Amino acid sequence: MPAKTNPIGVFDSGVGGLTVLKELLDIMPGEDFVYFGDTARVPYGPRTPEEIRKFTRQILRFLAEQKVKLAVIACNTITFNIIAADVADCPFPVIGMNDSVKAALSVSKAKRVGVIATQATVSSAKHVESGKNIDPEAKVYLQACPEFVPIIERGIFDGPEIEAAVKEYLRPLQDVKIDALILACTHYPLVAPLVGRLMGPTVNIINPARETALDAQRLLVEKDLLNPAKEAGKLRIVFSSVSPETENLAKVFLQRALPQLEVKDVSSYFYCI
Ligand code: DGL
Repeated sequence: MPAKTNPIGVFDSGVGGLTVLKELLDIMPGEDFVYFGDTARVPYGPRTPEEIRKFTRQILRFLAEQKVKLAVIACNTITFNIIAADVADCPFPVIGMNDSVKAALSVSKAKRVGVIATQATVSSAKHVESGKNIDPEAKVYLQACPEFVPIIERGIFDGPEIEAAVKEYLRPLQDVKIDALILACTHYPLVAPLVGRLMGPTVNIINPARETALDAQRLLVEKDLLNPAKEAGKLRIVFSSVSPETENLAKVFLQRALPQLEVKDVSSYFYCI
């Protein structure tokens, strides 16, 4: 059983998961965190579930070496493409992104919810399944936005290029008159102001990051694993490759000063599916 003072592992395909880490740091400042971003292999969105599962197992192995007490999957693409067997042998609990369909339906008067995400998340159709389970009359519309992550990874959050892509992807959701929109990719909060502007005030924009952080906190309470420390915890950020752009982007995503970035290649780690 891991100790209360062990760190919490948080991981994503790249820098996107830092939007979730930011929420975790806000609500649990006394915890130690180790963040891993697979920047050498980002994006995961166009990959097959088999590849995503293999990479996830390699990252979980790295986090096991760091003796984490919990792993938070700060990536929708991973959350909705792995299967229970991928995490079954982890010596710590693993929690994924909250799909936020319930939260979206609770504010949707029309019972029409849009979901924007990567291709792999859309292909999993997990949000549609969740919608049917919560309310059989609800309609959940999925829209893959394959151009978003590469553009956002170049540090572009506004302006003509991203605006053209946002307009193109949002049009089908506007046509079906959604009134709630889930940002089901941890990169997308960076373009939330633009998305909100283009969708107009009648559409509620839902970012699942805070709910996911609260789920993680609840799980630690349940397992009696919260760190009782009063002083601020330690933060480590590890990427599979680092460039000056990664560092700049990480600062924007995390919205606070960064520790010295570490580099770790996990691609040769043994995995077994
Ligand atoms: N940030 C990831 C997510 O939440 C996707 C980025 C990628 O395509 O790797 O889905």
